[in-house]
Amino acid sequence: MKIIIDTDPGQDDAAAIMLALGSPEIDLLGITTVAGNVPLELTARNARIICEMSGRTDVKVFAGADGPLQGTQVTAEHVHGRTGLDGPELFEPSFPLQDGHAVDFIIDTLMEEASGTVTLCPIGPLTNIALALQKQPEIAGRIQQIVLMGGGYFAQGNVTPSAEFNIYADPDAAAIVFAAGSPIVMLPLDVTHKVLTTQPRIERIRAVGNRAALAMVKMLEFYRRYDVEKYGTDGGPLHDPTTIAWLLQPQLFQGRMCNVEIETTSPLTRGATVVDWWGVTDRAKNVHVIGDADADGFFELLTERLANLA
Ligand code: BDR
Ligand code: CA
Repeated sequence: MKIIIDTDPGQDDAAAIMLALGSPEIDLLGITTVAGNVPLELTARNARIICEMSGRTDVKVFAGADGPLQGTQVTAEHVHGRTGLDGPELFEPSFPLQDGHAVDFIIDTLMEEASGTVTLCPIGPLTNIALALQKQPEIAGRIQQIVLMGGGYFAQGNVTPSAEFNIYADPDAAAIVFAAGSPIVMLPLDVTHKVLTTQPRIERIRAVGNRAALAMVKMLEFYRRYDVEKYGTDGGPLHDPTTIAWLLQPQLFQGRMCNVEIETTSPLTRGATVVDWWGVTDRAKNVHVIGDADADGFFELLTERLANLA
């Protein structure tokens, strides 16, 4: 599976990147970074730190958009810490960013690889993907699928009562992506709130004992405090790696095809994903929406694949 991860790391983004790097089925063509949890300069640095922690300084990392298509940037330091990757000891990455813009890398890759063979995995705001679709609309028909973390329906929102962070941070970009006609698989809060970083699951990752797993434990221990306090749950939702896990083992998940539209105008609900789960409209079913997961199977997969890293 040839994939590009578009990301704003983020501890849960780190888990997604490590899961991909530890999985032989996946050919990670590159990582594109976007402003999101923290500003672009930090996400572009964090992506390289994560690769280096995984023993993979060969991964191509590109910097992309430094803010949303419209409006002001929203960040989430209150969740992820000042660096975006608080928890382990961080360092200056030893390898540079690639020359060129993330958006051009996405376009060039999709135009050069055989049509229908490259999957995009956006796990941050959708700005880079929307910019790529605007700049080269032909890519919409060449993308194998877009497997994204974002949105919520019964679970509603995590930054406003009705909007999830990745969509809220750039609703105009999300509207472009959801309307582009590429196949979309969406992993919303409804499913990510079912995969919780409980202490026994963290201990199993610790037992892997390699550099990546131990860094992951430090990240998860920092990251879970916010959600444990907010939701009163035993652990925090591990949002972003659900995308990679779905690619690797879709049988761990359940969902259905639905119409999904993005609210961009209402001041009250901007960034909401309006999911027609019950099929009460005749709007076209444009998204495979995931609602449930085998949480133990998901953590088993993550733990097993972390063990493959150097
Ligand atoms: C999403 O927002 C970010 O804070 C996480 O990294 C994840 O991508 C969850 O709403
Ligand atoms: Ca993210």
